This record gives sequence, structure tokens and C-alpha cells, in this order.
Amino acid sequence: MNTLECIKTRHSTRKFKADQVSRELIDQVLDAGRRAPSGGNTQLTHFMVITNQDVLQELVTLIQEEYGKMPVFHYNAPVLIVLASKANYANNFADVSCAMQNMMLACNELDLGSCWVNQIRHLQDNERIQAKMRELGLSEDEKVYASLAIGYPDLPNDLNRREIEPKGYPVTYID
Ligand SMILES: Cc1cc2nc3c(=O)[nH]c(=O)nc-3n(C[C@H](O)[C@H](O)[C@H](O)COP(=O)(O)O)c2cc1C
Repeated sequence: MNTLECIKTRHSTRKFKADQVSRELIDQVLDAGRRAPSGGNTQLTHFMVITNQDVLQELVTLIQEEYGKMPVFHYNAPVLIVLASKANYANNFADVSCAMQNMMLACNELDLGSCWVNQIRHLQDNERIQAKMRELGLSEDEKVYASLAIGYPDLPNDLNRREIEPKGYPVTYID
């Protein structure tokens, strides 16, 4: 798959098989994220790779309790990569977003489904979520900016790769 094809056919997956993804594949996705550009090449994005199902379940329970009634936020994906960065760094969210896109494209190339999930970011100032994330390795000076749910799609048409023309995104040519 070439790069443009990978970009055009990537779509979010929201139903995953329980099958765990091999460490080798996870590391390829992670490597793609760690090769993303960063402001001033500071490389401050912290990748927290969660494959422990008990920890994932704890996060699901915490988020449900703190968010109120909501469906399982990570769609039962067996892998969740939580991306954090320094809270006082101006390009934190931009750097994290570059890494997220690289990882989503890598997933498409590797026949893995992925979906950006925002709940931990939304709850980044929530005391219970923050305490849990600190326990898992989030530093005192870091905050969570995004998370990526990853796994094998549990859908009849797998990744349902298709090209959809964007309807939004205004473009202005200034010739
Ligand atoms: C910043 C951002 C936040 C998102 N948050 C969520 C989320 O919390 N849950 C979810 O299911 N999808 C989330 N998405 C995925 C978008 O809904 C999805 O990318 C968009 O609808 C386009 O669909 P596609 O990815 O299938 O092309 C998020 C995407 C972005 C870029």
C-alpha cells in the first residue's frame, strides 16, 4: 500500500475482536508514532502502551463512574496507547496529534483497526483518573492528550477500507 492509498482508505474501527495483538506488531505501530515530527524535535510525547486487560477494565470502570452513563469508551480493543506530553509545552497537543496520525496509518498498513478515543483526555484533570494514570507511569508534569484503541476488527468487511470524498474542509486557492 502506498502512502496516499493508506491515507485515503484509513477509517476508524469501533468493534474489535478480543484477540491480542503481538508485541511485534504493537512495536511497529509505536515506532511509527515515535517517528512523527515534533516541534523543535523535542520528542516529548510519552507513549503509554496498555495491553493488561485488568488495567484496561479498571480504566473503563473509572471512566464510566466519572463520566456518567456512556458506552465502553475503548470499544473493548485489546490495546490502548495513551499519549501524554508535558503540560507546560506549547506544542503538546500538536505533537501528540502527529504521532496519532502516524500510528493510525501504520495500523491501516498492518491490517489493524484503530480509533482515536478522547475520554481520558477529557478527564485529564479528574483526580481519580489522574491518580490512576500517575500510578501507571504518567509523570507529575505530564497530561494525557489522546488515546488510540487498537485491535483486529470484528466486522464482516474487516477494516472496510474505502475512499470517501471529504465534504467539509473548505479550501481557498490564492493563485
Ligand atoms: C481529535 C479527535 C477526537 C476523536 N475522538 C473520538 C472518540 O472519543 N471516540 C470515537 O469513537 N471516535 C473519535 N474520533 C474519531 C472520529 O470520529 C473519526 O475519525 C471521524 O468521524 C472520521 O471517520 P473515520 O476515522 O472513519 O474516517 C476522534 C477523532 C479525532 C481526530
